Amino acid sequence: MTQKRIIVLTGAGVSAESGISTFRDSGGLWEKFDVSEVATPQAWAKNQALVLEFYNQRRKQLYEVEPNKAHYALVALEEKYDVHIITQNIDDLHERAGSKNVMHLHGELKKVRSSVDENLVYDLDGWELKKGETCEKGSQLRPHIVWFGEAVPMIPFAAELCATADIFLIIGTSLNVYPAAGLVAYRPPRCMVYLIDPADVAISHIPGIKIIRQKAGKGTSDLVKELLNNA
Ligand code: APR
Repeated sequence: MTQKRIIVLTGAGVSAESGISTFRDSGGLWEKFDVSEVATPQAWAKNQALVLEFYNQRRKQLYEVEPNKAHYALVALEEKYDVHIITQNIDDLHERAGSKNVMHLHGELKKVRSSVDENLVYDLDGWELKKGETCEKGSQLRPHIVWFGEAVPMIPFAAELCATADIFLIIGTSLNVYPAAGLVAYRPPRCMVYLIDPADVAISHIPGIKIIRQKAGKGTSDLVKELLNNA
């Protein structure tokens, strides 16, 4: 029998219990930093040193944290389901936990790329990307991140994947940022949708959605147990 396919859309909340700050919660990153000064093409044009420093700090932190119960529960789900994770996160905690299929919508912290040719992408050794480090064409390397105001190249592939879901899980995202927040609309009719988030995310318009008002660690572990029992 073919396995059912589960599409999981994750956001910053899935990594919160690992110690990575979310963006829009109280105390979140966008309270401490002005997004337009660090996460836009204009910011990069204006002050490369500040943008590099912002992402260097994020990357440095990533080397100090570990995947949590939620990341591991999603790996366990692969025992009985065909699981595909679509994450808005730039951390690598799903991969480090062992998830097989992970698509990053907003880029990856541990990768850098040419600022003149977006196809020249490299793994960065260590946490620090310095001014003066260049691609093979001689241009400054930039973080491999989709900034506000930039296109999201993976979206067509993500939308195609969402259209094949038997079950759709949404974990730890405020669903404030499009096009990622619109992906659930591509699910087929009759696809069951679950949302795990401790806050009141504005998504109750989805018919039949099951809302689990819990943190990712407990909410995901419990739901995964239930789904494995039902498989
Ligand atoms: N478990 C689950 N969810 C949590 C937890 C937790 N322990 N702690 C917080 N959350 C939830 C919050 O309630 C909120 O709904 O995580 C969500 C985080 O929302 P945002 O900070 O807006 O993060 P996200 O939705 O991932 O942001 C989307 O915006 O800034 C950009 O590119 C960045 O990918 C990011 C995008």
